[in-house]
Amino acid sequence: MTDPAQTVSTLTLEEKAGLTSGLNFWYTKPHPQSGIPSIMLTDGPHGVRKQTEGGDHLGLTDSVPSTCFPPAVAMGCSFDPELLELVGSALGAEARAAQVSVLLGPGINIKRSPLCGRNFEYLSEDPLLSGVLGAALVRGIQSQGVGASLKHFAANNQETDRMRVSADIDPRPLREIYLRGFQRVVEDAQPWTVMCSYNRINGVYASQNRWLLTDVLRGEWGFDGLVVSDWGAVSDRVAALAAGLDLEMPSTGGRTDQEIVDAVRAGTLDESVVDAAATRVVDLVGKSAVDADAVFDADEHHALARRVAAECVVLLKNDGVLPLAVDAKIAVIGELAHTPRYQGAGSSRINPTRLDNALDEIRSLASVDVVFAPGYLDDGTSTEELLAAAVDAARAAEVAVVFVGVPAALESEGFDREDLELPDSQVDLLDAVVAANPNTVVVLSNGGVVRVSGFADRVPALVEGWLLGQAGGGALADVLYGLVDPAGRLAETIPVRLEDTPSYTDFPGEHGHVRYGEGLFVGYRGFDAHRTEVSFPFGHGLSYTTFSYSDAVATVGDDLVVTVTVTNTGSRSGSEVVQVYVGVADSAVVRAPRELKGFAKVHLDAGESRQVEVPVRRADLAYWDTRVDAWVVEGGAYRVEVGASSRDIRATCTTEITGDEVSVPLSVESSIGEILANPAAAEVLSKIFATADGETPALDPAVLEMAASMPLERILSFGNFGIGRDEIQRQLDIVNAGSK
Ligand code: BGC
Repeated sequence: MTDPAQTVSTLTLEEKAGLTSGLNFWYTKPHPQSGIPSIMLTDGPHGVRKQTEGGDHLGLTDSVPSTCFPPAVAMGCSFDPELLELVGSALGAEARAAQVSVLLGPGINIKRSPLCGRNFEYLSEDPLLSGVLGAALVRGIQSQGVGASLKHFAANNQETDRMRVSADIDPRPLREIYLRGFQRVVEDAQPWTVMCSYNRINGVYASQNRWLLTDVLRGEWGFDGLVVSDWGAVSDRVAALAAGLDLEMPSTGGRTDQEIVDAVRAGTLDESVVDAAATRVVDLVGKSAVDADAVFDADEHHALARRVAAECVVLLKNDGVLPLAVDAKIAVIGELAHTPRYQGAGSSRINPTRLDNALDEIRSLASVDVVFAPGYLDDGTSTEELLAAAVDAARAAEVAVVFVGVPAALESEGFDREDLELPDSQVDLLDAVVAANPNTVVVLSNGGVVRVSGFADRVPALVEGWLLGQAGGGALADVLYGLVDPAGRLAETIPVRLEDTPSYTDFPGEHGHVRYGEGLFVGYRGFDAHRTEVSFPFGHGLSYTTFSYSDAVATVGDDLVVTVTVTNTGSRSGSEVVQVYVGVADSAVVRAPRELKGFAKVHLDAGESRQVEVPVRRADLAYWDTRVDAWVVEGGAYRVEVGASSRDIRATCTTEITGDEVSVPLSVESSIGEILANPAAAEVLSKIFATADGETPALDPAVLEMAASMPLERILSFGNFGIGRDEIQRQLDIVNAGSK
């Protein structure tokens, strides 16, 4: 295709404006005379939701079959970017085969509250983990010549009032928590598109937020792709275009295109803005290589979905009852074993190519008969008869394996959950089964975290099965019988109570605003800062074997490299996720006690030892300095903790990091301490004091250390100096210019 800008230069204003909004629900507008075809964008994120008739963004109308991989809630727990890149390639291949040019995902919003109804679509409460895994998915998708759409940019951390609410966030948490993952994905993987979110950020709609879409995304991060609106996220099309939103989806039937044309004609919108957006649309269309012959192997992808799902299962607790022996006499209890919940509701709902259930898969691995009792109905309710049959089955078995979880009706895109509880009927079932047979394994199916503190102490084994996609049943059977070592680790904290979560008092806000009052202290950052007890900490997950850590060393070069020797001390092979957390005890700024800065997943045979290298980028050590509006690495001693979770630190070392130079412009409002910290400015200060007349108290700069926190202008008002404020500011400006 010819140069997109060249192509656009031949079009009329109406044609250019037309290109910047959809043809219909899923397609862009073609311009056949210029050789611009129409391309399809579709959901996303863990499968291809290609609707054949009509369109909706609520997952109502069915779509063509595609592999339903584990949703992000599970994939986040894999801590495995290589594996997720494979998933991305498979998604890309399926999109290609469906003639889809852009897959709307991954979603990497931070799980600020466990109540967010869409947490199943997001990866983690941690920005580094979200960013690294998000970049892997994007790389995979785009390796197939299909574009990814990184979403929902930004701070879309709740469903309540999602189309209007203003996420009111201070600059540091906004940068360090909510934008950091997006920055990582953009810089590392250059997604073809970024999808702006519905909500406002500090009062301004994301779709109209020039600071977000242009200054930060393009200016600071170097994004050169296209910004597409979330479906229906545009409130004022002209303002959005001017802010940097290139493509409005879905179609508005030409109404908003006309608004653009009118604005240009009225002189309130520069035509070059329309040219830039239209050029990006043409560029995107040119990148997508639609291949009418592309196919994918559904069996192969199903096998990949099973392998990935097994890597995402988190073994929360095990006193030795797992793995099960194939000849163990077990009773499987709970309808979820038979009718799985394997994905969430809404726009990400995939029509799977097939669907495994755990019961059949368990039966196919067991060498003896497996008894099943549903215990409750599909909607989560129970009856006396179902309960009694489950108790009988449990009593007669060696091990009861109980499947419980969040019913589909309770979590979905579009609304937030009200609590973290399992349905009462399931809790009653669990209590009755444990009373009948204490040897009970609990398997959870849930998109958002559930409270386990009511029963975790009473059961010998607890498996977090999340929503695992179409092959999740087989994956659970593989893990339960130990064919696969449980290798998932928690990408989010499981709190003891909802009330303990850092965002609790500020979620979901009121009257159109939600204040992110916990600031930087999201997820484990907050639980650790407050030393709050948790049920299971971030990063936690057991294996069927055990690992020891030794000889942790941090080496500082351009970046930091942490090496540690990990040994499989058990008698079976297994996977460990080595996590590197960093803290700065004497920091001059507010910080969480520890933050994840690197991780590596290793598979070790029984008895095997390996030196594991975990790189930590220097840029990831930076905090957002509000004095200079820039990332700054503070100098000093950094505590590097290597562990198996945020609360299971196995080795610690300290390393000295050289800080970045920060020059904060000085003014007469600067404090004496700030001025004295700069030698050139300190000299200006002594000159000022030399001009003081006899009635002014002696103001020797050395003495002034005591007055370090006093602004210079206040000191000036105490005495008579022979130098005016303007002249002082002029001299400080010379110092400021010299410090740059
Ligand atoms: C969702 C997006 C989705 C879009 C298209 C919106 O409601 O927020 O995630 O990609 O619909 O279905």
